[in-house]
Amino acid sequence: MKRVSVAWPRRAAVGSHSGCSAALAIDGPYPAHGYIRAVDAAALRDEFPVLRRFAYLNAGTDGPLPRRALAAAQAELERELQEGRTGAHFQRRAELAQILREGYAALLGCPPSDVALTTSTSEGLGTVLGGLGLGPGDEVLTSDEEHPGLLGALQALRDVSGVRIRIAPFARMADAVTAQTTAVACSHVSWINGSIVPAALAELEIPVILDGAQGVGAVPIDLAELGCDAYAGAGQKWLCGPDGTGVLYVSPALRERVAVTRRCYTNLAQAGLGLESPLREDARRFDTSSLSAEALALAGGALRVLSDAGWPAVHERACALAETFAERLAGTGREVARRGPSTLVSFSSADPETEREQLARDGVIVRNLPGTSWLRASVGAWNDGADLERLVRALRPYEAA
Ligand SMILES: Cc1ncc(COP(=O)(O)O)c(C=O)c1O
Repeated sequence: MKRVSVAWPRRAAVGSHSGCSAALAIDGPYPAHGYIRAVDAAALRDEFPVLRRFAYLNAGTDGPLPRRALAAAQAELERELQEGRTGAHFQRRAELAQILREGYAALLGCPPSDVALTTSTSEGLGTVLGGLGLGPGDEVLTSDEEHPGLLGALQALRDVSGVRIRIAPFARMADAVTAQTTAVACSHVSWINGSIVPAALAELEIPVILDGAQGVGAVPIDLAELGCDAYAGAGQKWLCGPDGTGVLYVSPALRERVAVTRRCYTNLAQAGLGLESPLREDARRFDTSSLSAEALALAGGALRVLSDAGWPAVHERACALAETFAERLAGTGREVARRGPSTLVSFSSADPETEREQLARDGVIVRNLPGTSWLRASVGAWNDGADLERLVRALRPYEAA
């Protein structure tokens, strides 16, 4: 295998629509969009014990857990253990939910009242798509690079409600919209290769629902620039929270159009009124039915670790490392998938499943994408050049299938 000595540069150029932006410094303070302090990589890495053992490049599936988040969750469990779960416990859960909602809202750049707490990206997508009241005669346009998390909701629309689902190439989504299209539902960042949704979707006047599983926490999100009406994200991936957490933005305009088809007391404004209770006015009407104090604390603690590191710096470091790594891999003779200014790097493998297992034995955690010839590395701000170089070194000579 060709070995190329790598210098992880201080600057790497990336840039476009709600992905990462131009001319970045990986280390040291630098003036990009004003003065953004760089990530203290050593301190950030220290939060994630798994990085001591592995080159952990798996946040596109499940992010590494930070210590501080674990401590927050443990404190909640200890309280429950010692004090039981009384009215004060429910009060505490409501407080933790509000803290998490505010953290997600700050990251998305919207008011907390536009943010619902979910258990997953998939749940958020299903909530919105299932509530649009679509039926025969409606068409939802989606792309050829979608994850089953979105495809499941679209399949339900087709099979249960008779909605037509049309598929277009991800890069040409905006051009594929016709007068028959009722709504668009696709990824913000493709899970297959890390490319970014076309900016022209923002011009559409029909609802645009984005799957942000590979977006939120990974790349900056400007909801206005994206022009989306709903954005669903995962808590467990780039936000390093627990499985079973997620975020759903619904614009105030769309909120009025989405029927809340599954309701529980958390969605009701005055649960004591029973059947007569109005729904909550804000996005809490879409909240999932139940999140534990420990899950909320873990998610909130993880969010805090990353926001303390500084979101702009977190995004820029991750995207710059990924960009540099993609170039580095291409230099070794691997085919790197077409990608965008994001944190995912997919590269060819003659036998992705076997190679993924072999890499894991060498302490490098990536995933294969079923049904494709790609392996995918997820590069976070918590990674460094040594992690990525460990992956390059662990790769066996590549022979195209
Ligand atoms: C693009 C995309 N959408 C949806 C999902 C499903 O996410 P969740 O488990 O949060 O529903 C994933 C998970 O990998 C994903 O990559």
